[in-house]
Amino acid sequence: MKRYTLLFIVLIFAIPLISQNKFVGVNTCACHNLPKQGKQVEVWKKSKHAGAFESLKSDKAVGIVKVKGLKVAATEAKECLECHSTGVGEAVEKSFKVEMGVQCEACHGAASAYKGIHNKPENKEKAIAAGFLKGDEKTCKQCHGANKMHDAKEFNFKKMWEEIKHPMPKG
Ligand code: HEC
Ligand code: HEC
Ligand code: HEC
Repeated sequence: MKRYTLLFIVLIFAIPLISQNKFVGVNTCACHNLPKQGKQVEVWKKSKHAGAFESLKSDKAVGIVKVKGLKVAATEAKECLECHSTGVGEAVEKSFKVEMGVQCEACHGAASAYKGIHNKPENKEKAIAAGFLKGDEKTCKQCHGANKMHDAKEFNFKKMWEEIKHPMPKG
């Protein structure tokens, strides 16, 4: 009896670990740089999101860290990385690089479980079940709008989305 109880406990802890989604990083999303796909990677590279981690090295960032009395540099501080990067404190694969800033997965969800299936329209439901997120205004507001670390601009979804939109070509 005892042996089964032990096995049961081990399984309860193991299953969430096995099924835990990992962040894979933007370099894994290379298919999205094909012209017929809409070159989302290129659009993203030109956006401020791609430079969000780099901004944590600026004099302005150093100043904020001082004012807030943080114990580590901005590039190491959870208080900054949660908005200026992706997957803070979450499981990541080797391909993932925090230096790449606010990456695809910050809005579309950690991709390890869906990256291999989300490219087929018939897999849409499966991809969503595996953690794929479409992203919407609520996603943006996790990072945009008032925050505890520094002054922030007012967030106007329509206007801001225009700046970073990356649609698939129609047809
Ligand atoms: C800041 C958040 C954010 C980031 C970063 C982001 N996306 Fe998106 N993405 C969205 C939102 C929001 C939509 C629109 C969803 C909708 O309206 O259908 C979208 C739509 C898309 C679409 C579907 C377009 C269509 O017309 O059907 C693709 C493909 C896509 N993103 C790929 C990527 C890739 C690849 C990256 C990284 C290089 C990326 N996204 C980065 C938020 C983001
Ligand atoms: C994980 C956090 C995060 C999410 C989610 C996020 N952003 Fe951002 N966004 C940032 C950060 C951080 C910056 C500033 C980057 C920098 O300049 O260093 C930024 C900058 C921007 C900028 C440029 C603003 C400027 O002042 O030049 C636009 C536009 C923008 N985001 C749109 C969006 C939209 C639209 C969404 C949702 C679809 C979104 N963001 C979701 C963190 C995020
Ligand atoms: C809640 C999300 C959030 C947190 C937490 C956050 N930031 Fe930001 N940060 C943003 C957004 C969004 C912007 C873009 C400007 C805006 O919309 O106000 C930004 C802009 C900046 C900029 C200006 C970038 C430029 O264009 O020069 C710096 C520097 C910066 N943040 C540093 C930090 C530091 C350092 C920390 C940690 C102490 C931090 N941020 C924490 C969301 C955040």
